[in-house]
Amino acid sequence: MAQKAHEKNQIMNILAIDTSCDDTSAAITQGRVVLSNIISSQHEIHQQWGGVVPILAKRAHQERIDAVIEKAMQTAKVTKDHIDAIAVTYGPGLSISLEVGVKKAKELAALWNKALIAVNHMEGHLFSAFALPKTIKVDEQNIQFPLLALLVSGGHTELVLAKDFGVYEILGQTLDDAAGEAFDKVARMLGLGYPGGAVLAKMAEDGDEKAYQFPLPLAQRKDLAFSYSGIKTAAFRLITSITKEGTVALTKQQIADIAASFQHIAIKHLVKRTEQALKNTKVRALVLGGGVSANILLRKALRTLTKKYGIAFYYPKTKNLHMDNAAMIGVAGYYKAQRGEFVKDVAKLDRDPTVEISEKGAFE
Ligand code: KG4
Ligand code: ZN
Repeated sequence: MAQKAHEKNQIMNILAIDTSCDDTSAAITQGRVVLSNIISSQHEIHQQWGGVVPILAKRAHQERIDAVIEKAMQTAKVTKDHIDAIAVTYGPGLSISLEVGVKKAKELAALWNKALIAVNHMEGHLFSAFALPKTIKVDEQNIQFPLLALLVSGGHTELVLAKDFGVYEILGQTLDDAAGEAFDKVARMLGLGYPGGAVLAKMAEDGDEKAYQFPLPLAQRKDLAFSYSGIKTAAFRLITSITKEGTVALTKQQIADIAASFQHIAIKHLVKRTEQALKNTKVRALVLGGGVSANILLRKALRTLTKKYGIAFYYPKTKNLHMDNAAMIGVAGYYKAQRGEFVKDVAKLDRDPTVEISEKGAFE
C-alpha cells in the first residue's frame, strides 16, 4: 500500500493521469524518474476549429484514456501490483476534460485498492523541471527552496514563489491572455496553423527581431502583472496594414520578421518580470515550466539571468515534459505522498477548473 511505502520512505511507483485540456496522458513514475510518459495529442481534432472544443476534447479523452493508461503500464513494464498510488490532475483546466481523468483515477483507485493523490496541474508544470527521464543520466542535487517558478503555458502565465514543497505564493500573473495563447493567436494571424506557438518560434529563426516595434506591456508598472492582449492587438493591426485588410498576402520574410519581432517582445516581458521578482526575493533557483518553456530564446535569456544572479536554473529536460503530460503529475504527486497528502475520501474528490497553485484541496 502507498501509505506503507511512504512510511518506509521507499521510492513509490505512481500511475499518473492528466486530462486537463486537449492531451490525454498517463505515466508511470518512480520518485523523480519517469518510466513512461504517454501523450495522445488531440491537435488534429481541434486544429480545424482554431482552438480547443471542450466537448470534442472530452469525447476524445473518454475514447483514449484506457489505451493510454495501458500503454503507459506496458512501456514501464509494470502491472497493477507494482503500483503504490494513483495521481491525477484535478485542476486547473477544462472542466469536462478534467472530469474524465478524475473519474478514471477514482475508478482505478477503488478497483485496485490504491491510494489516490490529487495534483494541481500548475504544480505539475513546476515539478516537470525536476522529472528525470530514464534515458538521461543526470546526477542532480536535491530540490532547494525557496525557488522562483515562471510557469508559462497556453492557459497560464505566472510567477510563483515556492517556499517549500506545497507552499506556494503567486507573485504575479496575467491580467488577460496567457503567453502561450498570444503565441498561438499571432501564429494563427500569420497563417501558421493551430496551435502555432512552436511553428512561430521556428519561423522567427529566419526573421529580424528589430524589423517591427511592439510595445513592451505594462512597462510603467512596478508590480509583477503580465499582459499579452496589447501585443496581440498590435500584431493584428500591423498584419492588417501590411496585407491591406487581407487583400495582399504576407511574404515569407514578412512572416518571419513579424514572428521574430513579436517573440522578442513577448520574451522580453517575461524576462523583465522574472528579473524584478528575483530582485525582490532571495531564491536559490529559478524553475521554468509550461509549454512555452520549449522556447529556446526564452531559456537562453533566463539562463543568462540566473548566471547574473548566481542561482540554479531548471527546466524540463525533454520535449514531452514541456507540454501537458502525466509524468509531471506523477513527480508532483510523489512529493505530496511524501508529505502524506493523499485524498482522504475518494468519493469526494472532484475536478476544480479554476483552482490556483497556492490553494489546498478540500479533500486532503
Ligand atoms: O503547457 P501546455 O502544453 O498546455 C497548456 O497547459 O496550455 O502549453 C501549450 C502552449 C501553447 O500555447 C503552445 O503554443 C506553447 O505552449 N508553445 C510555445 C512553444 N512550444 C509550445 N510557445 C512559444 N515557443 C515555443 N517553442
Ligand atoms: Zn499545462
